[in-house]
Amino acid sequence: MAPRHPQAASPIDRRFALKSGVAAIAALLGQGWTVQAAESRLPLGFTSVAPTLRDAVVVPPEYDHQVLYRWGDPTGIPGHMPTFRSDASNTAAEQAVQAGMHHDGMHFFPLGNDGKRALLVLNHEYTDEHLLHADGPRPLTLEKVRKSQNAMGVSVVEIERTPGGWKQVLPSAYARRIHGNTPMRLAGPAAGSARMKTVADPAGQQVLGTLANCAMGVTPWGTYLTCEENFHGYFGADKGSPWAGEAASQRYGIGPGAQWVDWYRLDERFDVTKHPNEPNRFGWVVEIDPMDPTSTPIKRTALGRKCTESATCTLTRDGRVAVYMGDDARFEFIYKFVSRDRVSPGGYAANRELLDHGTLYAARFDANGHGVWLELTPGKSGLAASIGVADAAEVVTHARLAASAAGATPMDRPEWIAVHPQTGEVFVTLTNNHQRGAPGRPGPDAANPRVANLGGHIIRWSEAGADAGASTFEWRHFVLAGDPAQPASGTRYPSSQVDPFGAPDGLYFDRAGLLWIQTDMSGQAIGKGAYASLGNNALLCADLASGQIKRFLTGPSGCEITGCVVTPDRSTLFVNIQHPGETSDAGGGMTTSAWPDGGIPGSARPRSATLAVWRRDGGAVGT
Ligand code: FEO
Ligand code: CA
Ligand code: CA
Ligand code: CA
Repeated sequence: MAPRHPQAASPIDRRFALKSGVAAIAALLGQGWTVQAAESRLPLGFTSVAPTLRDAVVVPPEYDHQVLYRWGDPTGIPGHMPTFRSDASNTAAEQAVQAGMHHDGMHFFPLGNDGKRALLVLNHEYTDEHLLHADGPRPLTLEKVRKSQNAMGVSVVEIERTPGGWKQVLPSAYARRIHGNTPMRLAGPAAGSARMKTVADPAGQQVLGTLANCAMGVTPWGTYLTCEENFHGYFGADKGSPWAGEAASQRYGIGPGAQWVDWYRLDERFDVTKHPNEPNRFGWVVEIDPMDPTSTPIKRTALGRKCTESATCTLTRDGRVAVYMGDDARFEFIYKFVSRDRVSPGGYAANRELLDHGTLYAARFDANGHGVWLELTPGKSGLAASIGVADAAEVVTHARLAASAAGATPMDRPEWIAVHPQTGEVFVTLTNNHQRGAPGRPGPDAANPRVANLGGHIIRWSEAGADAGASTFEWRHFVLAGDPAQPASGTRYPSSQVDPFGAPDGLYFDRAGLLWIQTDMSGQAIGKGAYASLGNNALLCADLASGQIKRFLTGPSGCEITGCVVTPDRSTLFVNIQHPGETSDAGGGMTTSAWPDGGIPGSARPRSATLAVWRRDGGAVGT
C-alpha cells in the first residue's frame, strides 16, 4: 500500500477553506507549489515554430524536451515491471501493468512542496489493433481482447525532477493502472436503477472497467476525473441480429453491427443482444483518488451519460463545485453540473459524495450572444416521461435525449473546456463538423456559423455575475480556426499576430492565464485540402490580452497533441503525443511515423508518449 503523502492534499484545502467564487479558481488551478519569483519575461516571447510535416517533435530554439512514459513502458508497480517488446509480443497481463495506448487527458499532482516529486495521471483513449498485437488484429482471440481492454484506462506514474530532467520513479508505491477490467462502483442517481442491472451485477452497482478515456478534470479536493468518450464502439453483435434495444441506445450509436471491434465474439458482456444494459454502465465521468492506489474508482452518474470529453471543475460563488463537460459527437451538447452541497475542507474524505447530488444543465446559445443553462430535471425544461426521461436515473442515463427535449444547441463536436484562472471566463473547443449544413443535417447557427466546418472554432462565455452557478451566460467567438489563405475559409482570429491552426481539441489555462490550444486534425487529412498549409498537429499558446497566438510545438507525422498541463511553478510543460503515424481513425496497419524510437516509418511501431518541455534558461514556459 502506498503511503498517503502528508502534503499532497493540504495546500488545496487551505486555499479553498479561505476563498470562494472566482478567487478560488486560481487556487484550484494553482494547487501545490508556491510560485517562484515574479516572471519578468513577456508572454509568448519564444520563437514561433514553423508549420512542418517532419516526423519529429519540434520546439522553439529557446526550449528543450524529453520523452517520458511511452506506450508499453512499465508503470512502475512494484514487482510487476515487464519491459516493452518492440514486436508487440507483450501479453495482456503485461499490458495491464504497462503504459496504455493513445495517451490523452493528463494532470500533474505535486507530492510535497519542494517541486521535486509528483504524480502524472493520464488517460489512454483507445487502441490501434494493428500496432497492439504482434500479428495484427486477426484472428481475434480472447488474449487480444484482454490486451486491448488493458491498454485503455488510466495510468498513475510517479516522476521526479533531476539535474538531467524529469525521470520516472521505478518502482513507485503510487504507480497504478486502471483499465477495462478494473472493478469500480456506480454512484449517483443511476446507481442501482433498472438500466444498470446485469446478470453479473443484479444490484446495478458494480462495473468492470473504464473505456475510451479521453479528456479529464481535477476536483478542488484533489481527485482526478477521467471521461469515457467513445465507449459505444466496444459493444455490439453480428450485424442484423435480433435486438430489442431502446431507441435511446441508437442515439448513443449502439446496436448490432455498429461496433468498432468485435469483442462480443469472445467476451460475452460486450454482446448487446445478450447484455443490453452493459453499455449503459459506460459513458460516465469516473472519479479516481491518485494518492491511494487501493481506492475504488467511482462512476459519478449525476454528471450524465454521453461521449464525455472533459469534466472541468470550478467553484460557484457560494463554494459549490461546477463541472463543465463536452459531448464530442456531431450536433451534441455542452453540459454543466452544479453540486447541491458546498466543497468542504478535508480533501476527498470530506467530499466523497459531492458529485452525487446536484443539477445537470445543457447549454442553449442564442443568436443575440445570450445563453441559457437548461435544467435537466424531470418536469422542468419540457422533460416528460413520454420521451423516456421520467425520473432522475433516466435523465442522466439518456442525457442526450433530455438535452434535446430541453432545446439545447447542437454543437460542432464540443471537446475540451477550460476556465480562466483569474476571470472565471470559460472557453470550449468545437473541433470540427463537416456535416454542418449537409442535406438532412442542421444548418449553421450563431454559435456554429460555418457549413462543412473543417477548421473548428473556440467559443468563450462569461457566466452571469461571474458565478459558475448562474443559469445564464453571455458568449462570443474567440476563434474561427483554419487557414485564412484558403478561399472562403471564413476564419476569424483575435489579432493579426496569429499562427493559424485547424481542429482545436485540447484546451488548458496555466495559472498565469496563458491558453494552450492543442490540435487534432485527423491523420489522413493532415497536410491536405483545408489543412494543406498548417503542417502537423500542434500546441499553440494564446495571450488573451494581446490576441496573439503562437505555435509552440509541432508533433510527429499523424499524431494528435493533447493532455497539456503546466507545473505550478511554470518551469515545465507536460503534453501528450497521441497516435503518431495515424493514417485512419480506425488504424489501418499502415503508419507514417517511427516516433519516438526511430526506424523506418511503415515498419517501425510508433508509440504514444508524454513529453516534458522546458525553457533552457529555466524561465516560465510560454515566455
Ligand atoms: Fe477523444 Fe473527442 O477526443
Ligand atoms: Ca479530444
Ligand atoms: Ca479530437
Ligand atoms: Ca485523434
